[in-house]
Amino acid sequence: MFQINHISLTQFRNYSQQAFSFPKRVVGLCGSNGIGKTNLLDAIYYLCFTRSYFSRTDAGSVQIGSQGFRLEGDWHQEGLEHKTVCIVRETGKKELWVDQEICPKFSAHIGRFPVVFIAPDDVILITGGAEERRRFMDTLLSQLYPEYLKILIRYNKILQERNSFLKRAAESNQVDTGLLEILDHQLTEAGTIIFSERKKFMESFLPEVQHFYAVITSSAEKPVVAYSSPLLERSFQDILLQNRTRDLAMQRTSSGIHRDELELKLNDESFRNIASQGQRKSLLFALKLAEFNVLKKAKGFPPLLLLDDIFEKLDETRMQNLLHWVCRENTGQVFLTDTHCDRIKEVMQKIEVDCQLIELS
Ligand SMILES: Nc1ncnc2c1ncn2[C@@H]1O[C@H](COP(=O)(O)OP(=O)(O)O)[C@@H](O)[C@H]1O
Ligand SMILES: [Mg+2]
Repeated sequence: MFQINHISLTQFRNYSQQAFSFPKRVVGLCGSNGIGKTNLLDAIYYLCFTRSYFSRTDAGSVQIGSQGFRLEGDWHQEGLEHKTVCIVRETGKKELWVDQEICPKFSAHIGRFPVVFIAPDDVILITGGAEERRRFMDTLLSQLYPEYLKILIRYNKILQERNSFLKRAAESNQVDTGLLEILDHQLTEAGTIIFSERKKFMESFLPEVQHFYAVITSSAEKPVVAYSSPLLERSFQDILLQNRTRDLAMQRTSSGIHRDELELKLNDESFRNIASQGQRKSLLFALKLAEFNVLKKAKGFPPLLLLDDIFEKLDETRMQNLLHWVCRENTGQVFLTDTHCDRIKEVMQKIEVDCQLIELS
């Protein structure tokens, strides 16, 4: 079992100083709009990921008028108790402490306390550009393999260096081929590892997505999530070499794993184009629950599941299918939020789940 037992928030967004205990496995947070439901979920996420789920800056999470924030979490994981503390100092410097020891590299912490967040705006994962799906894939793989994030950070750094190199070359009208070859070699090395991790992973991921899509929709429709990368056709080295003239002209690296895509399809058509709103939302949940299941298998215990404004997303039948799986078949800790306490209470009664209700005010 893996769960958060207690959290305290100091100067974190709308929370000056508040603490919550979570004795039960299923926690419902209710209260009117703007009361702090999403912020509380994001605080929990912060302790797992050392950053906000909503790409907000650390400074943006400090309570207006204050300097610095502090989050403390007490965790129970596979028979052991842990304490994590995330601090943003007055200077803006961020620290993470795990069991009284400072964590020297945030990337090493990610995945130790696995978590899956599902927020209303996440449907952009289906409707938005390739970048959204790459980020999804990267977040997932970072939680799965500690090395992945390190290599990805390295890749992005070399990519930036290469792009600056291309700019300088254009400006000075001189190409230091020796240096470009070194950069290409470094980029190829990191990029090829990322590529093979993504490719391998997507093969096992697809059946999970299809499984959950069926669980939620009770239909036989099979969406397809296909990994597409320029590296599927040619080696990265060849790609860089072939594009060299073009890259120099465009002053950027035009092809590589930073252009990968997850194609979403239904009946061989682009999912985005043909799917109804309900189908999109179902696929969103299927992707997220597939992420959840993959993490669970890899870690040996279910990750934390944070479901924000869940009731606004699906029709009632699909919602019940989903909640039944999430709260009954899943044995991990679940947080869900809604503006109406009664709505959570009713659904939990219907699916016979003992739920802790916290009414925020
Ligand atoms: N840095 C901040 N300082 C103070 N209040 C903040 C900060 N960031 C957000 N808030 C407040 O938090 C509230 C939103 O909380 P949120 O968790 O999104 O509400 P809910 O999910 O319950 O609708 C808003 O009232 C907003 O003004
Ligand atoms: Mg909210």
